[in-house]
This record gives sequence, C-alpha cells and structure tokens, in this order.
Amino acid sequence: MSLATDAAGFATPPIAAAAKQNGAGNPLIVVEGVVKIYSTVAGDSVLALDNVDLTVRDGEFVCLVGPSGCGKTTLLRLLAGLDTADAGTSSLAGKTLNGPSPEVGVVFQQSNLLPWFTVLQNVMLPLRVGGSSRDAGKIAEIHKLLEIAGLKGFENKYPYELSGGMQQRAAIVRALARDPKLLLMDEPFGALDALTRERMNAELQRIWLASKKTVVLITHSIDEAIFLGDRVVVMSPRPGRIVRDLVVDVPRPRIAAETFGSSSHVALAREIRMLLE
Ligand SMILES: Nc1ncnc2c1ncn2[C@@H]1O[C@H](COP(=O)(O)OP(=O)(O)OP(=O)(O)O)[C@@H](O)[C@H]1O
Ligand SMILES: [Mg+2]
Repeated sequence: MSLATDAAGFATPPIAAAAKQNGAGNPLIVVEGVVKIYSTVAGDSVLALDNVDLTVRDGEFVCLVGPSGCGKTTLLRLLAGLDTADAGTSSLAGKTLNGPSPEVGVVFQQSNLLPWFTVLQNVMLPLRVGGSSRDAGKIAEIHKLLEIAGLKGFENKYPYELSGGMQQRAAIVRALARDPKLLLMDEPFGALDALTRERMNAELQRIWLASKKTVVLITHSIDEAIFLGDRVVVMSPRPGRIVRDLVVDVPRPRIAAETFGSSSHVALAREIRMLLE
C-alpha cells in the first residue's frame, strides 16, 4: 500500500476513523476502587492511589494529567499489568488484569530501543517474542506502520542514527507491533523540544486515527492533553484520585494551529489549570 505525503513529507494514511465519536465503544478498561500503597526502603507506607475509578471505552483516547508524584505512572503500571493494586479491581475487555498482556502496548518517556538492533529489528522484537516473526501479513503490517510513522527508509538504521522524535515514533510502532487493543503512554514526548513535540502530537493523532486503538496517555502538557484527548482526566495531588473527567468536544483530525487558539481549547485549558493549582 502506498501512502500520500503531506507538505511536511509525512505519510498521510486514509483516515477511516475520522468519524469516531467520543465514548462510542464498549468499556475496555474498568478500574474500580483501586488503592495502591508502596512500602519504602525506610519502612514507611506511601498511599499512592486512593479509591481510583476510571472507565475507558474501546477506541477512546484518554489523557491523564496531574501534579508530579500524584500516582499517574502507578496507575499506568497497574493497567499494564506490571504491578498489582492493594485493593479494588481492574479489568481489560472484561477480564481481570493479572500481569502483562499482548493486548497492551506500552510506551515510556525514553524510547528504550535496543542500541544493537536496527529500527526494523527493534520493532519486530515483539513478533519474535510472540513467535510470529515469519508471518508475512504481520511483517507487512509493521512496514505499513513504519510508513505511517514517517520511518520508511530508516528501517536499517540504528537508534543512535535517529533523532529523539524518530526514536519515539519507532517505540510507538514497536508498541503497536502485536496489534494491541490498548496503548499506554507515559509522557512519551516529555524529552522533546516544543516544536518536535507538536509535530509528534499530530503524528500520534494520525497513527491513532488509522489504527483505531484505545489510548491512555500521561502528560504534563495541558495543551497536549486537549489536542490529543477525547477526554482529559485530572488527578489530585497524592494520594491520587480522579478529580475531574472532561470531554474534549473538538472534531478530528485536529490541527494545532486551529485548535490551540480556539475558545473551547482556551476555556478547557483554564479549567484544567485551575484544577491543578
Ligand atoms: N517503587 C516505589 N516505592 C515507593 N514509593 C513509590 C514507588 N513508586 C512510586 N512511589 C511513590 O508513589 C507516588 C506516586 O508516584 P508516581 O511515579 O506514580 O507519580 P507520577 O504521578 O507518575 O509523577 P511524575 O509526574 O513525577 O512522573 C510518589 O509519591 C512516589 O514517591
Ligand atoms: Mg510518572
């Protein structure tokens, strides 16, 4: 499949999902009454999450914002099955979460690409681990994702030969490699400069619209949350609780130059800022 490119040279996938409606799907993640308590080395207890309820529907893009240390990463790790809660329940597609699942892809702040592997080898890794690295259909899908992510032509480069933004795009492709239902992202663009970040937001929106995934993304950027999210979920300072769940009612695909200055964006940004202060 050959894709058109936009003025910036990025691949433009057919945006079949542009008609997505907020909250149109069935609940995919259901978190109820989740509590997480850490025990520190010094022997203290830290209440990180206190009675968190969150529902994310199939196909939704939910952004999670909150003060530093409020428990965002803790919640994401629970959703990724990398940690367990001390109370409450969490399920994915109706099944209790108990450990990492091929249905969940995770992207962290650092791309964590393996330096001794090329881009293609890195993004193929989940298929190798899953025993499907010789599946011609899956390999074709990976190449399509690389093209959508603007990495065509860089398949045989090593991570050190890529920019930070390109490495993060490769990490997103790797997370999508096994066609997960759910993509979890923890400040994936936090280390990038403002302009690259804005471009990455547009890229991610495009990948999301083409891939029809459910996404939960943590960010410290209110603008990023409003630009990307169908909903922006605001957490309190530790112990983390959900204090507001706001719907972003802006049609897609969103264009930064148009939406950032719009009255709805400004009003929502002000509301989120007041909640965080
Ligand atoms: N392994 C751990 N052991 C003890 N305490 C922890 C551990 N991991 C996190 N914490 C504590 O739990 C709280 C929540 O941490 P978490 O990393 O989830 O916050 P966060 O919202 O992701 O913060 P940031 O925005 O700075 O990334 C913090 O007070 C932190 O010190
Ligand atoms: Mg964090």
